[in-house]
Amino acid sequence: PYPVYARLRARAPLYHNPELGFWALSRYADVSAALTDSSLLSSDHGPMLDPGAWGPHARTFLSFVAMDPPEHTRMRAAISRGFTPRRVAALEPMIRQIARGHIERAVERRTFDFAREIAARLPLDVISELVGVPPSERAHVRGNFGAALTYDPEGRMAEDGLRSIIGLGDYYRSIIAERRKAPRDDLVSVLVADDELTDEDIVAFLFLLIGAGAETTTHLLSAAWYWAWRNPGQRAAAFGGAIEEWMEESLRYDTPAHGIARRLTRDTDWYGVRVPKDSRVWLLIGSANRDETVFPAPDVYDLGRDTARAISFGSGRHYCLGGPLARLEGRIALEELTRAVTPGYDLDPTGIRRTAHGNVRGMVSLPTTVT
Ligand code: HEM
Repeated sequence: PYPVYARLRARAPLYHNPELGFWALSRYADVSAALTDSSLLSSDHGPMLDPGAWGPHARTFLSFVAMDPPEHTRMRAAISRGFTPRRVAALEPMIRQIARGHIERAVERRTFDFAREIAARLPLDVISELVGVPPSERAHVRGNFGAALTYDPEGRMAEDGLRSIIGLGDYYRSIIAERRKAPRDDLVSVLVADDELTDEDIVAFLFLLIGAGAETTTHLLSAAWYWAWRNPGQRAAAFGGAIEEWMEESLRYDTPAHGIARRLTRDTDWYGVRVPKDSRVWLLIGSANRDETVFPAPDVYDLGRDTARAISFGSGRHYCLGGPLARLEGRIALEELTRAVTPGYDLDPTGIRRTAHGNVRGMVSLPTTVT
């Protein structure tokens, strides 16, 4: 359970933290209304809580998630042409092959770290494949990205991480240059064919893909694995075939994208308090998904519940572009796991670790033994 979120919803639905410089909304009704009102709550400073990543510069590395209409509309439409439902559905055999590879290699040893060896690898490899990184280079991209996710105790990115990010940007530029010379049938080739998109627009988008689509999907897989272990009755249902329900309840219960920041565009009264224009407002999706007025007994992990109103992928104009891809990856990985891990598994509680990062959080180590 998230006792702090429950207290916020009950006693401080508008919470102010002057020290860290943000306001927070935590009730379902407020968070979902705020996500859909992009004229009141602008994305032009990006969605990150980290003050270093929040500001007008956010678009240089986060592309259109840090833009408002009409620019956002134009850019998202251009990018979506390379990210159609047909293209996503066509990825299924490739995703299954990558998932099987990682799962078989791990399960063969009987004891493995689910978070590191399976959950962290599949989403990054799928994005690499989407971008056109050859299989021999996937581990290189994973290494660079892994270093970029190493935070110090205050939650800041380590210096090695920054260097890795720069290295990754150069690598992406080389792929863009190759596709300009010799286009293929892939996402980057579709993007370079669009005159409106510059190389830097495309690099920023590729960073957004990896930033928005890798760690989030990793945490979805790890949450499913962890909470099914903690709840044996639900695990039986999951392994009995309730794959979609397993995935959707894990997204609601342990929401990977916990919070999203916005900039307030005018002075606004909430709960009798005047919040000034340009304030940073923190929208707590993780809390909204546990709101008792929408989800009865919200702290119970229950595959049988109705999760249709969960807002794990956001809402409104910035609704996750990769939602269908994340769900496809989730479904395939969980299907393959229920087949490969028989009859069951156990976790070593002393080795379980979670990240403390503000926006995206979840399990980073899950020592598993096949029983
Ligand atoms: C946007 C969550 C997977 C690409 C978002 C937003 C959320 C979210 C909450 C809204 C951000 C905002 O309103 O500012 C998730 C979760 C995922 C996931 C929980 C996995 C379980 C993916 C994947 C991709 C992706 C796999 C692509 C490979 C994007 C993009 C945006 C976005 C491009 C920006 C959309 C826009 O600003 O118009 N995601 N995401 N996401 N996501 Fe995801």
